[in-house]
Amino acid sequence: MYKVLDARRIVPNVHCLTLEAPAVAREVLPGQFIIVRVEEDGERIPLSVADWDRETGTITVFVCNVGNTTNKIASLRAGSELPTVVGPLGNATEIGKFGSVLCVCGCYGIGSVYPIARALKENGNKVFTVMEARSAYLFYWEEKHREAADKLFFITRDGSKGIKGHVTRLPEVMASINEPIHRIVINGCTMVMKRGSEVTRPFGIKTVVSLNPIMIDGTGMCGVCRVTVGGQTKFACVDGPDFDGHDVDWEELFQRRRSYVGEELLPMKTSGCGGHSHGS
Ligand SMILES: Cc1cc2nc3c(=O)[nH]c(=O)nc-3n(C[C@H](O)[C@H](O)[C@H](O)COP(=O)(O)OP(=O)(O)OC[C@H]3O[C@@H](n4cnc5c(N)ncnc54)[C@H](O)[C@@H]3O)c2cc1C
Ligand code: FES
Repeated sequence: MYKVLDARRIVPNVHCLTLEAPAVAREVLPGQFIIVRVEEDGERIPLSVADWDRETGTITVFVCNVGNTTNKIASLRAGSELPTVVGPLGNATEIGKFGSVLCVCGCYGIGSVYPIARALKENGNKVFTVMEARSAYLFYWEEKHREAADKLFFITRDGSKGIKGHVTRLPEVMASINEPIHRIVINGCTMVMKRGSEVTRPFGIKTVVSLNPIMIDGTGMCGVCRVTVGGQTKFACVDGPDFDGHDVDWEELFQRRRSYVGEELLPMKTSGCGGHSHGS
């Protein structure tokens, strides 16, 4: 069993969990994920690792409450135990010496992009982080991001902080930086990664996204996480989760993510609980 050491709602609809998972903490690298189960016979869901402490053997994840299992995670408290925590899974994000990197994040991606930004900075890159949300009260870990980045930008749909609008306003952020950007990394909900990739395409800057298809085993065996990238079939769990956002077949990804909507709603209806859509 894996102990939940801390569990708290960090902003409405996003929960932060610190888990005792020494094997994961020892090996995990920026961009990798774990698969957890809340109950012995429950479904397996992937979560990106947002931080870790190799000495104490703990990891931090952020969970956006969008459905049955994430709703159960949202109700966990310190002292709860998880029967399954598998990982680290997937490939680490490439941490090269690129020059200037724009790290774009929203929702749970605000957490998952943090170790990537930190590692890029430690590797000598200039890091510009763009946090996006519906409104300013949905931002978290601002101080940590400030430390990991050379400059922090905000985009809010209601204009309560930073630029008003969606991730499609990225070109204005890039114009205000006024120096060449050599790579862009986007983490968060599917729509943010898709729209972000669309607006960076004309600039010809490599845009790396962390894909979030439905997963089961996370080790390349079930085929559920199949995505098409550059016309080729890939399994996000073992070939990714990072891919070039300009090459992803986004419509197929959206369609496959919706495959089990009817089944996913059943336990919510019978339990009477209500998760919230994150707009993807
Ligand atoms: C590599 C990876 C990393 C991820 N990291 C995070 C993270 O750090 N924090 C976070 O909140 N979410 C993360 N996700 C998404 C998260 O796994 C899903 O939101 C979660 O599984 C939804 O489960 P649910 O039962 O609560 O919702 P459901 O009602 O089952 O589904 C809601 C929507 O989530 C998607 N989904 C359902 N089951 C899965 C599944 N097994 N795998 C992936 N997507 C699914 C579907 O599009 C579905 O329509 C990640 C996904 C992947 C693939
Ligand atoms: S989750 Fe089964 S192959 Fe990727």
